[in-house]
Amino acid sequence: MNLVLMGLPGAGKGTQAEKIVAKYGIPHISTGDMFRAAMNEGTELGMQAKSFMDKGELVPDEVTIGIVRERLSKADCDNGFLLDGFPRTVPQAEALENILAELGRKMDYVINIQVDQEILMERLTGRRICKSCGATYHLVFNPPAETGTCDRCGGELYQRPDDNKETVQNRLEVNVKQTQPLLDFYKEKGYLKNINGQQHIDQVFSDIDSLLRDLK
Ligand code: AP5
Ligand code: ZN
Repeated sequence: MNLVLMGLPGAGKGTQAEKIVAKYGIPHISTGDMFRAAMNEGTELGMQAKSFMDKGELVPDEVTIGIVRERLSKADCDNGFLLDGFPRTVPQAEALENILAELGRKMDYVINIQVDQEILMERLTGRRICKSCGATYHLVFNPPAETGTCDRCGGELYQRPDDNKETVQNRLEVNVKQTQPLLDFYKEKGYLKNINGQQHIDQVFSDIDSLLRDLK
């Protein structure tokens, strides 16, 4: 099962990715998570990514394509993968086609989670994430049982530094600009599946799951 999860910032990619990998056991490859991990480790890649992420800009294609190429060639991707937040530009999508061809793989679906822009600001500024296990919550839409604490592991919840109003505004502008050409690219290839992301989290998953059930 070779999948890409697309959607504007806050559309619910991370939330749905967690459910997909739990059910289907494929590796979750999030370029955003990879950059944040590199930042925490203080590597050269992390320093480079931070300067773009803090402003809500995209990390340059060469850098992003390089880390995805390396990750997809690892053995745990042999039975499939879920790419989250990559590709985000047409050159990234073209590079992915080449990488998959080199690895002798074919894309199954590009799942595009659709949510109106007006809703995304509220979703992102209200998001909280567990420091220990990475679980995602929302202060209003998906609150933890105890304020500031992860239901799953008891870890402390934090807010991503790029989830402030000003940076979210720029992330949305930057991503909206890149999205339509990418959707056109995948529509033409016949991989694109649109999912209504403005439903309850469980209903969004149920719609995605009905696409995937037949794939295995
Ligand atoms: P990345 O980490 O990928 O962030 P993003 O695309 O901005 O997306 P998010 O993680 O913010 O949102 P999401 O769609 O996962 O939403 P979530 O499920 O958390 O990228 C960060 C940065 O890294 C980029 O800005 C860029 O600089 C760089 N980068 C990454 N990939 C790159 C690439 N390919 N090329 C270049 N640069 C790259 O949900 C959001 C909130 O809403 C949560 O609180 C959740 O609980 C809630 N929620 C989710 N679903 C629902 C629902 N159905 N109803 C109500 N609330 C919901
Ligand atoms: Zn946790």
